[in-house]
Amino acid sequence: MAHRFGGAWTREKLSILRNYLGFYSTALKNQPFSLLYVDAFAGTGKQNPKLDDAQGDFLAEEDFDGSVAVALEVVPGFDRYYFNDLNAERVRALEEIRDKHPAKDIRVSRQNANEFIPAFCADLSSRDRAVMFIDPYSTELDWETLRHVANTEKVDLWLLFPISALLRMTPTEGHSIRPEWSKTITRLLGNDGWQEALYEPKPLPPMDDMFGDDNAGDQYNRLNVEELTDWVTKRLEELFSHVARPVRLDNNGRPLFLFYFAVSNPSERAWRLADKVVSAITKETRR
Ligand SMILES: C[S@@+](CC[C@H](N)C(=O)[O-])C[C@H]1O[C@@H](n2cnc3c(N)ncnc32)[C@H](O)[C@@H]1O
Repeated sequence: MAHRFGGAWTREKLSILRNYLGFYSTALKNQPFSLLYVDAFAGTGKQNPKLDDAQGDFLAEEDFDGSVAVALEVVPGFDRYYFNDLNAERVRALEEIRDKHPAKDIRVSRQNANEFIPAFCADLSSRDRAVMFIDPYSTELDWETLRHVANTEKVDLWLLFPISALLRMTPTEGHSIRPEWSKTITRLLGNDGWQEALYEPKPLPPMDDMFGDDNAGDQYNRLNVEELTDWVTKRLEELFSHVARPVRLDNNGRPLFLFYFAVSNPSERAWRLADKVVSAITKETRR
């Protein structure tokens, strides 16, 4: 079963993930830990990317591995793999993959990631260490779920933050956000502090222009993409010991996702090493 989405940016994120998993499983292989890979929005293991004008023939009709297949190919690999998805058909595809790899310990589940992740985190033992990949389509992940990941102190996280959805839901001028979108943004960002933080008062117009102004509701400007990125990064830094500057994944020049690496381990030595490796891995793609 192929799974249609993505494009060049999908390859970019998977290439970064592949390189990090290779580093991680090699670096920790002789340590007294159980190494776990957890894919909370796992998909099917296959991708059949959509074509668009900008990508042209480059990706034409070409299937390539999804994150699950990427993780399973990594050497030396992990002691256990957790693949979770909400979609029944995709879970069946994941079960087939599990059955084709009898030598690997693969756990497949079908849960909302916002329930799966807290339960997974609560079950971690002191000997477990994990890399978690959170790869939603859009705004499916609740901010509160990330708090569980951060509190483990044992998980390195790769997170796709849906900056395009946030941009779409927050008009550049004014504060007139649809109520259902406000709810979604608050769930995505953890509280309603964004209502103040994302908007700045416009500079006052010259006195002459103030009369007859019929746009009294549009007195605010939203942060631009870079400022918004910095703000999301700061919010993540409130939870995690270390958050790397994200890689921005674009489609046709438009920002789609911020690809974050965050470390829950409070040991500075641990996150400095991880950060050095991540900087090298993402150097080519970081914008
Ligand atoms: C972007 S795709 C994942 C792609 C996959 N990580 C890969 O690289 O091959 C997002 C997946 O999340 C699943 N999904 C959507 N909402 C979910 C939720 N609340 N909890 C768990 N999975 C969900 C979808 O069924 C879909 O397979």
